[in-house]
Amino acid sequence: MGHADQTLHVEALSRATNPPKATDVSLAEYWMPFTPNRDFKRDPKMVVRAEGMYYWSDQGERIIDGASGLFCAAAGHGRREIADAVSAQVRNLDYVAPFTRGHPKQFELATRLAAITPGDLDRIFFTNSGSEAVDSAMKIALAYHQAHGEPARTMFVSRERAYHGVNFGGVALSGLVNNRRRFGPGLAGVAHMRHTNLPQHNKTRGEPADGAELADDLARIVNLYGAENIAACIVEPIAGSTGCLVPPKGYLARLRKICDQHGILLIFDEVITGFGRTGEAFAAHSFGVTPDMMTMAKALTNGAQPMGAVAVATRIHDAIMDAAPEGAIEFFHGYTYSGHPVACAAALATLDIYRDEQLFERARSLAPYFQDAIFSLASHPTVADVRGYGMLAGIDLHAQGSPGARGHAFQKQLFANGMHLKATGDCVIVAPPLVAEKSHIDAMTDILRRTLSQV
Ligand SMILES: Cc1ncc(COP(=O)(O)O)c(C=O)c1O
Repeated sequence: MGHADQTLHVEALSRATNPPKATDVSLAEYWMPFTPNRDFKRDPKMVVRAEGMYYWSDQGERIIDGASGLFCAAAGHGRREIADAVSAQVRNLDYVAPFTRGHPKQFELATRLAAITPGDLDRIFFTNSGSEAVDSAMKIALAYHQAHGEPARTMFVSRERAYHGVNFGGVALSGLVNNRRRFGPGLAGVAHMRHTNLPQHNKTRGEPADGAELADDLARIVNLYGAENIAACIVEPIAGSTGCLVPPKGYLARLRKICDQHGILLIFDEVITGFGRTGEAFAAHSFGVTPDMMTMAKALTNGAQPMGAVAVATRIHDAIMDAAPEGAIEFFHGYTYSGHPVACAAALATLDIYRDEQLFERARSLAPYFQDAIFSLASHPTVADVRGYGMLAGIDLHAQGSPGARGHAFQKQLFANGMHLKATGDCVIVAPPLVAEKSHIDAMTDILRRTLSQV
């Protein structure tokens, strides 16, 4: 090791033991995503370490993670097994071109995922994020209809209050006005069903009893545009980012039926609901409805590496394969980092943890306790609505001032009180790691209750 290397080594060591404080780094250059940048930079909240259920700030404060980061760290933070797998993979095979070259872990991971997805969703296309998974699923739907002789099927049906990521496909599907309003007309040919959050569902725990007929919006869209023009209907089984909108009983089954009647593909976006959040591997299992495609990301690698995937029904995959001449590329789509070896290693280690620690079952058995705790806040005067299913819940606050102002103040005060949560407007979404103990749920509920009285 040369002198310069030694200096670097010493610096790296000292950075690990003395992580930089917000005051040590320039804040100007980094443009933060989905963040009020000016507000953050006036009052930075810097996180420097994570382990198990907790983050630590640069001020040394311990912060309980009520959101699994951003719905990612289902197995808790700092998992040694994942770190070791990532480190070994970087040393052994850091990268390989994904086009025309393969490495065994891509195939192994696809097989492992096919084994836990419902029905015949046994063909897996890898991406690097949920947004890319959504756009890939849209392209697969279009390619499928071309392949089986219905090229006019180019429209998509989505839903109000939907979040399907931020690429142009996902934004066109989006049902959240702020994610659309600055970005022009985007992709044409998307129709939106109504969302499923009816006023009479207020403070309903689990699936609301009424509202399945909202699925008939799909039939109305078919009547308006013609089924022969519609490629796919895409929904989050539980709308996540908009605040945990649990589907009414029978709603998803009714969507499935209408899709089947009209040759429309049904896509579930399980980027939040996948990997145990609902108490099963996927929400498709929990609600007993099998889509034709499913997108996933986030908890796929426990958040330790960027990765997404689309699980595709074998018949859709085969139709696209069979339509291409022998020896030709069948699907002109993919990313430089599709099936990245390091992400695959992280995902395989993550799936091992989920299996060995039975985390999906654990989520199912902890869910009633978690839902009791969250619903104990329902009568607080600041709370407008509470919804929840499995290890996911949404709490709407009564707005105060401009829309979203109270939600933003709430999540900042929560952080100051030692808890991390994701806010969308005046709603916060609670999604603890599935390794949480009851004592962690109690601690979160106490902080939530105290903070509700402070905003
Ligand atoms: C349902 C759903 N789809 C897609 C995405 C986009 O995922 P990503 O941020 O990894 O692109 C998200 C992110 O929260 C999501 O919740």
